[in-house]
Amino acid sequence: MDRLTLRRPDDWHLHLRDGEMLRAVTPETARHFGRAIIMPNLVPPVVRGAEAAAYRDRILAAIPESADFKPLMTLYLTEDTDPADLVAAHRDGIITAVKLYPAGATTNSASGVRNFDKVRPVLEAMAEAGIPLCTHGEVVDSHVDIFDREAVFIDTVLDPLRRNTPGLRVVMEHITTSQGVDYARSGGEDLGATITTHHLVINRNAILVGGIKPHYYCLPVAKREEHRLALREAATSGDACFFLGTDSAPHLDHLKENACGCAGCFTATNTMSILAEVFEQDGALDKLEGFASLNGPRFYRLPPNESQIVLEKGAPVDYPAHIDTVEGPVTVFDPMMPLHWRVVE
Ligand code: DOR
Ligand code: ZN
Repeated sequence: MDRLTLRRPDDWHLHLRDGEMLRAVTPETARHFGRAIIMPNLVPPVVRGAEAAAYRDRILAAIPESADFKPLMTLYLTEDTDPADLVAAHRDGIITAVKLYPAGATTNSASGVRNFDKVRPVLEAMAEAGIPLCTHGEVVDSHVDIFDREAVFIDTVLDPLRRNTPGLRVVMEHITTSQGVDYARSGGEDLGATITTHHLVINRNAILVGGIKPHYYCLPVAKREEHRLALREAATSGDACFFLGTDSAPHLDHLKENACGCAGCFTATNTMSILAEVFEQDGALDKLEGFASLNGPRFYRLPPNESQIVLEKGAPVDYPAHIDTVEGPVTVFDPMMPLHWRVVE
């Protein structure tokens, strides 16, 4: 098979930032994707409905005219979030979901949640209104090893939170472990999980062997090979609870190649080529459309995109090593393997 037609894919977890970075990276996603869930971890974060509407308008202004792309906005959950404002923003079609960052877990998470009791009323209002909660699933306790933070989050935060809030719809964002895969599968209709492109490709050796490689550092950090294989099995299984959320997270190169480098892999430019390569390697090209184009809308109770994209297989495709922004370059994720599939229409 050397030609593949798919419903236009969506990205259920994406960072577009703001200002010059937003203008530089938005076309990279809008080229292939129909919709994306936009992360709210700006500085300051997107907390109220009116802020999400203003951010949406800035994104719309950055989309090339030729593109058919719709940003799906989120609010950043804080201990002071006003449930009435959040429910109204959802009712009015401004937001699609709400993002939970445990305070301190990742980039711009300082305004996140420390005490989960404080957000109980918001979570109950969300369960009532059917608003999905997207979770950054890592604990932040200094005594928990960084490679164990996802598994500990599932046991000590996520599972109790879901038991205490029946009906709350939850997305486990960017799962990186076999524990994440198993828990997502056990959760029924109200639980979904996104998987990034890069976590299907790299394990922790990519970051640490032969010198420290900041462009492979992201959060949750890539784990052992056995976990990468569990993610590959999940993504290519066809199970409806797993869908694509790239977590494409641009940082200027000088902020990643730094004594305290930022977390994030920028995969918007070559994600569809990488996914086609991965699914073909695993003999699962027939499952790519489910993962990238069908399972996400099904979880979010939205129709799949009407339009299609076409990929063709041929000589290896070269992607630019970086994209340029007014403030400097952003390195494009290097999958360390030749990519033979390219999006042609
Ligand atoms: O690698 C990451 N980058 N993980 C996150 O959770 C945040 C993101 C970012 O905003 O840069
Ligand atoms: Zn993210």
